[in-house]
Amino acid sequence: MDIASRIDTAIVVVAAGSGTRLGGSAPKAFVGIDEHSILRHCLAGVFDAEQAQVIVVAPASRVGEALAEAEEVAGERRELVTVVPGGATRQESVAAGLKRLLPTVETVLVHDAARALTPGETIDRVARAVRETGRAVVPTLPVVDTLKRVDDDRIVGVVDRAALAAAQTPQGFARDVLLTAYAAASREFTDDAALVQEAGHQVLSVEGSALAFKITTPADLDRARHLVAGSSRAPAVPGRAAGASPAQLPRIGMGTDVHAVGGDGPLRLAGLEWPDEPALSGHSDGDAVAHAIVDALLSAAGLGDIGALFGTDRPEFAGARADVFLAETRRLVEEAGWRIGNVSAQVQARRPIFAPRRAEAQAALSAALGGAPVSVAATTTDGMGFTGSGDGVQAFAVALLVPA
Ligand code: CTP
Ligand code: MG
Repeated sequence: MDIASRIDTAIVVVAAGSGTRLGGSAPKAFVGIDEHSILRHCLAGVFDAEQAQVIVVAPASRVGEALAEAEEVAGERRELVTVVPGGATRQESVAAGLKRLLPTVETVLVHDAARALTPGETIDRVARAVRETGRAVVPTLPVVDTLKRVDDDRIVGVVDRAALAAAQTPQGFARDVLLTAYAAASREFTDDAALVQEAGHQVLSVEGSALAFKITTPADLDRARHLVAGSSRAPAVPGRAAGASPAQLPRIGMGTDVHAVGGDGPLRLAGLEWPDEPALSGHSDGDAVAHAIVDALLSAAGLGDIGALFGTDRPEFAGARADVFLAETRRLVEEAGWRIGNVSAQVQARRPIFAPRRAEAQAALSAALGGAPVSVAATTTDGMGFTGSGDGVQAFAVALLVPA
């Protein structure tokens, strides 16, 4: 018997909002917390909870992406995943999700993708309470702030916070209650529990979770990022970050480059001009040391490589000198949120004799990278290979980037 025919609980995850208040470049659920999106984190919690049908409601343009994310988190439970396009309001998005409930489902949870860090235990607590009581269930937290009633900028009274609670999701319902209430709803409600209560049903409160806060503003996103980066929780399912997030750790990258002897004019190597040495050939000035450093930096930042960024389809870099490549690389790396820690390079060449100008080369390369320390070592290869014969030079570099 397949799993789907035994499922009695469904979770509708609404992720079709645009995230106006967050102001990101993507719809909110597709904004990254670390290397994973808000939706992905939310689904990690959902799949950490007891087995259920999972219906993700996504913006129409993101249905494919949402399905790929959900199936990856679901693993062996992927047959339980459905993704549908949402509507203009949260309520319409929930309604779109409810159309896809499996016939066996009796308990329905509705959850905001924006509550990305909601633990599986909170989800289970809501589902259990619905099954045990038959009531609608809302997870809540006590209100800790002192609340004032205001009239414009004037405080006109206090509100007894003991009588208040902050509502979260997932909110849980008996299937028929929720479907009937949705069918009858003739206006917009702030949440599903309010809609169900309006239809005459009692709603119970169970304990919510501080982690179930909703990511609404950039400050909320920062909070989620800090929590994920500092979490030492083991990943219950692929997707939930554990330990320090990779985005917070330094990153290294390596690069290598080879150029043949044979270009016009003087040799350019390691950011210097070497007047009496034979030039290297290449699309640019053939500075293998600088190019290895560029690759190391791009690799550390996960930005690809020199061919992809400065290849022959970028004619403005034809014949460009090392300092131009390095400065542009630094700009790209910093734009991606990194600061250059240091760079270490080695060149294998028969000529030039490097040591007398090492300090000068290091200073030139460092200046092109905005002052980051650069060290350059040089070696001959004992007469062996193309570097030993003097047919070409080869360079290697390692770069360290630290989060800006
Ligand atoms: N939502 C939805 N469809 C909509 C509007 C909202 O599925 N038409 C979802 C959001 O994706 C979110 C949840 O409902 O997971 C709660 O909504 P909210 O936090 O208000 O998100 P947005 O509407 O995206 O944000 P904003 O109001 O700032 O635009
Ligand atoms: Mg909204």
